[in-house]
Amino acid sequence: MIKLLFVCLGNICRSPMAEFVMKDLAQKAGISAQLEIASAATSSEEEGNPVYPPAREKLKEHGISCLGKTARPLQKTDYACYDLIIGMEGSNLRAMQRIFGGDPEGKLHLLLEYAGRSGGIADPWYTGDFEQT
Ligand code: 4NP
Repeated sequence: MIKLLFVCLGNICRSPMAEFVMKDLAQKAGISAQLEIASAATSSEEEGNPVYPPAREKLKEHGISCLGKTARPLQKTDYACYDLIIGMEGSNLRAMQRIFGGDPEGKLHLLLEYAGRSGGIADPWYTGDFEQT
């Protein structure tokens, strides 16, 4: 079992999109049983709120449901619980380092590393571009 946690600022746009796209990819690849996939926020601003409607709509366009997901803040104990903790942009990494008190096991990564790219996922909360996200 590999445990993945996606992280962004609010946990209502980018990290839930990553969570549910990854769940969809895992299901299509037939490896859902080997993965645990979740998402969390570096802030508590949106705690308890559902996925932001435009993000939800964008997922739905791709046949992906995120029903039932509500935002939850990252906790220090998440560090031990997950194998890979994947932020959307540099500021997420810095916040995770602060919350966890470092990264002794090298679990923290940026999503675009897996696409062989540097940089971050633009925040659609500010850009309004959910397609790009
Ligand atoms: P997210 O977008 O980090 O992709 O979920 C945001 C959602 C809410 C806020 C910021 C970013 N906010 O400040 O409330």
